[in-house]
Amino acid sequence: MAFRLGWKNSRSQRHLLQTVSGGVPLFPWRTAGSCLDPEMKAYLEDNTEVTSSGSLTPEIQLRLLTPRCKFWWERADLWPYSDPYWAIYWPGGQALSRYLLDNPDVVRGRSVLDLGSGCGATAIAAKMSGASEILANDIDPLAGMAITLNCKLNGLNPFPILTKNILNTQPHKFDLIVLGDMFYDEDLANTLHLWLEKYFWTHGTRILIGDPGRPQFSGHSIQHQLHRLEEYTLPEPTRRDNNGLTTSAVWDFHP
Ligand SMILES: C[S@@+](CC[C@H](N)C(=O)[O-])C[C@H]1O[C@@H](n2cnc3c(N)ncnc32)[C@H](O)[C@@H]1O
Repeated sequence: MAFRLGWKNSRSQRHLLQTVSGGVPLFPWRTAGSCLDPEMKAYLEDNTEVTSSGSLTPEIQLRLLTPRCKFWWERADLWPYSDPYWAIYWPGGQALSRYLLDNPDVVRGRSVLDLGSGCGATAIAAKMSGASEILANDIDPLAGMAITLNCKLNGLNPFPILTKNILNTQPHKFDLIVLGDMFYDEDLANTLHLWLEKYFWTHGTRILIGDPGRPQFSGHSIQHQLHRLEEYTLPEPTRRDNNGLTTSAVWDFHP
């Protein structure tokens, strides 16, 4: 997985995961707006741009890092927080969001967990398609803030956001779990696979995965338990920012 500018050179994904996955508190952003630290909110707003172009889901507006933002060009080590995965709308999430918007029956009236929510686009797509309950989960607390801002941009009341690692627990039953671009690190892929298998056999929950063909996904043993639902050609700007990736697909996980 590539980050723009110095992100990809400064810190490895493994390091990123180690630094942000331990002991992160729960942020129940239920009353968004009042919960957002004003300074942090201003920082996020100053260093991102609202955009709806260049992705598979032009109907969703997001605050993202774009070439018009200072940190697109700036040295990555000047960014004071952990790598802003939430400031990018990843190809896996784009495919999954497109799929939910085009197939609202998959989510309508259902409870949905968006695991590794990042900017929150897939959770937002689920909400737009009529999900009855949503939990967005991401171990980066800043993602929680970004998701709250992105909900408001799309005229949605922010849904609950959990910034705790739940991969060592078995949360209550959701009707649907969605994961966009979460198979980018081998260890994380293995952990996710075991967790998803256990969750599926415990609850019978439907699990959809969006992935653009990353090696940690295409080469993983999970492949034997997948059924491809849809494949999308990535828009040019997304292709340009994700060197080499041209398509992204949605998979049904059936162990
Ligand atoms: C590549 S981004 C994908 C974000 C979003 N789903 C998308 O497709 O745009 C992966 C996200 O997973 C989050 N993440 C990594 N490990 C996680 C874990 N154990 N639990 C929850 N989120 C995690 C990261 O913070 C990051 O926001």
